[in-house]
Amino acid sequence: MKIDIITCLPRLLDSFFAHSILQRAQVGGYVEVVVHDLRDYTADKHRRVDDYAFGGGAGMVMQIEPIARCIRSLQAERPYDEVIYMTPDGTRLNQQTTNALSLRQNLIILCGHYKGVDERVRELFITKEISIGDYVLSGGELAAAVLSDAIIRLLPGVLNDETSALTDSFQDNLLAPPVYTRPAEFEGHRVPDILLSGHEAKIDEWRHEQALERTRIRRPDLLD
Ligand code: ADE
Repeated sequence: MKIDIITCLPRLLDSFFAHSILQRAQVGGYVEVVVHDLRDYTADKHRRVDDYAFGGGAGMVMQIEPIARCIRSLQAERPYDEVIYMTPDGTRLNQQTTNALSLRQNLIILCGHYKGVDERVRELFITKEISIGDYVLSGGELAAAVLSDAIIRLLPGVLNDETSALTDSFQDNLLAPPVYTRPAEFEGHRVPDILLSGHEAKIDEWRHEQALERTRIRRPDLLD
């Protein structure tokens, strides 16, 4: 898989992709992540990517030309399955969307800033608009990082334990059950006996019941 992220603040994403699972996924060849500086696609000497909004009002708007130039130069090299715009007014991200995107080959993710992008960018280039929640971030970079992380960890081979992503919260619309590790007793608080029993079928059954119970209490909407 290849993920191209377009941003006017590329340095913001550096450390995020340089550590832990996301770094290993790139070194292992499971994913190639390329961050593109939108300012490299401007035509004016000040490398401006934004301008005042027509009709007035506070806040700058990201211009279409640098974005068009960047997306077109990427599309000239390979076909893209989706051109995604991270925006608080997009469709709220969930595990189903993440699963579906993890099956794609090539993705472009555009990070918004200021008041957002010129509406014509959305009309002409964007195939999917995604929000990571009902709150407004200063820019789309964190949202792009969240989306990339959620996708990349699902790619076969990326996680050490292949079954691990399948037992995440939200797979099967259930929250994950509680987990424990050593010591078996901490200041009088014991790990549930069943988990120490070695009885695999009973443990699976217990975990499923716990997952159901947790979902019923915390996120009943997932069971609808
Ligand atoms: N950009 C700013 N806020 C955002 C959000 N909540 N989701 C996606 N992109 C954003």
